[in-house]
Amino acid sequence: MHQPPEIILFVGRLHPLLVHLPIGMLCLLAALELAAWMPRFQKANASAGYIIALAAPLAVVTAGCGWLLSLSGGYDPSLLAWHKWLGTITAIGAVATALLYRWRKFNSYRVSLFVTAAILAATGHLGGSLTHGSDYLSRYAPGPLKWMLGGSPQVLPGKVQSTKNIKQSPVFAGIVLPIFQNKCINCHGPAKSKGGLRLDSYSAVMQGGDDGLAVKPVDLADSPLWQRIQLPVDADDHMPPGGKPQLTAAEAAAIKWWIETGTRDTNTVAELKPSPNISQVLSELEGQAAKAN
Ligand code: HEC
Repeated sequence: MHQPPEIILFVGRLHPLLVHLPIGMLCLLAALELAAWMPRFQKANASAGYIIALAAPLAVVTAGCGWLLSLSGGYDPSLLAWHKWLGTITAIGAVATALLYRWRKFNSYRVSLFVTAAILAATGHLGGSLTHGSDYLSRYAPGPLKWMLGGSPQVLPGKVQSTKNIKQSPVFAGIVLPIFQNKCINCHGPAKSKGGLRLDSYSAVMQGGDDGLAVKPVDLADSPLWQRIQLPVDADDHMPPGGKPQLTAAEAAAIKWWIETGTRDTNTVAELKPSPNISQVLSELEGQAAKAN
């Protein structure tokens, strides 16, 4: 995969860190200006000039880092485009707000501040969706709230589905896919597809990524997905990357078994005749899933 120079990635990765500073300052400023409308808190905005003087340059630097980060690729293109442009408008809005204050155009300054804060809210939400997936907020929300947040009422990912009788589970949808959903989908799913690879459906897994096929039926040695799982955790190519939640031994063994038995889609566990060893592994997975539920 084409990657920009490391220094660009390094500076770009400051974006998620820095971004909280201008957000905090602009929200604070908007809150102080609102408060200052009440006679009791008239002086709440006394430091407004200092706050916006800090917030505007920080917003510009943060947006700049964001542009660099976007070069690393692997984000949902339309989400990214919206986030990028709204973020740029937010930075321009912050600078305009600062200038209006400086020119003592206080009414226009307030209008500019509140418009910028509103755009900031939308930008921030898109940014969250980009990094965490669009259902990050809604996934664990209580029912009605989930609906309001636009979440889908699907089964929670990462949980082996109704494995009361694991022998009758489809090997891919019932066992392998939940492992991917739990440990890989944040980087290989609808929001981000690192290495051009998505692991959120059978066809996506079989299609592979930038480097070609990820799994080759039966052939472990020619299945980069398995090779990467097997590498030592501190190896550059190890998946999931070091520092992220790792596969358990049982999860790794189940994926290995799925590849060895021909990367089947709809076959059930029973049809693939698991050895006693594998049966043991599968019931361990079932135990893990039961705990997670
Ligand atoms: C924290 C993010 C992250 C997680 C989680 C993650 N990956 Fe990756 N993965 C990447 C990145 C980044 C790349 C591309 C860079 C590279 O080739 O190492 C990649 C590349 C890959 C590739 C090569 C794709 C290609 O064709 O270039 C495979 C296969 C892969 N990952 C499998 C997995 C599996 C299986 C899991 C879960 C067990 C997983 N990854 C979890 C970030 C992640």
